[in-house]
Amino acid sequence: MNEIIPFDQRDGFIWYNGKFVEWKDAKVHVLNHGLHYASCVFEGERIYNKKIFKCDEHSTRLHASAKIMGFKIPFSVEELNKAKKEISEKQNIVDGYMRAFAWRGSEKMAVSAQENKIHVAIACWTWPPYYSEESRRAGLKLKFARYKRPSPETAPIAAKAAGLYMICTISKHEAEREGYNDALMLDYRGLLAEATGANLFLVMKNGELHTPLPDCFLNGITRLTVIDLAKKRGIKIVERHIKPEELSDAVDAFLTGSAAEITRIGSVEDKFHYPTPSQITLDLMSDYNQLVRS
Ligand SMILES: Cc1ncc(COP(=O)(O)O)c(C=O)c1O
Repeated sequence: MNEIIPFDQRDGFIWYNGKFVEWKDAKVHVLNHGLHYASCVFEGERIYNKKIFKCDEHSTRLHASAKIMGFKIPFSVEELNKAKKEISEKQNIVDGYMRAFAWRGSEKMAVSAQENKIHVAIACWTWPPYYSEESRRAGLKLKFARYKRPSPETAPIAAKAAGLYMICTISKHEAEREGYNDALMLDYRGLLAEATGANLFLVMKNGELHTPLPDCFLNGITRLTVIDLAKKRGIKIVERHIKPEELSDAVDAFLTGSAAEITRIGSVEDKFHYPTPSQITLDLMSDYNQLVRS
């Protein structure tokens, strides 16, 4: 088994506030607003064959997330795109993962931190698939999460913001402790929402592809890409509110995300089983793999 090197002890460089900084020196002070009050937004993106997939879309979303959180990223989308390209080249990444993130600094350590400096960093590294080879082959085992995706009146649901992930980590840890790969979250109305870091699609018995309406969770860039690919194949896409019991009307199901890519679901608890990959899922996986490397 490969030894996993902790993320603060690796070699290389991180782009940090406009400069390349030695990886081990890319530090923050413990008293910073991002850490204490979750005023932090981030992106997760993949590099395929030295090219950042949907680079501009991710930089644009980072800006949009910051705006929702009430701050402005001090680098334009174009500057971020350039910096992302430069750091992935400096790190010599062929196939990997990239994190661009921004957070409020240390000037004030209270709920109000209007004038705190906004810091930005970009790191990238070589990275294997998100789920193990074995679970990808068999299809993921999911458990319903204890927590629900909050209403848009409760949280800034359209931002990819650190604070929204506390219920994801708790739910995923609980699922993993019980032998599952991930947790499937319902929303505040009890409808199907998404997994802890990926969107959900159901291949229905009638050959349509159904996916929950993203009205209280992230409308993922991969989700939008897969919808596009399905449309190109003439597959009927239905975005709608879906009840959990409708999982039994599906013949197959999968998750989508920059990290998760397209990963099939094998079962949800012992209630819903998808033992055989559908042709639709296999076709979309193949289209996606081609697209990201085109
Ligand atoms: C909670 C959550 N939902 C959905 C997604 C999928 O988004 P994307 O396809 O843009 O990576 C992610 C991944 O970032 C996520 O963290």
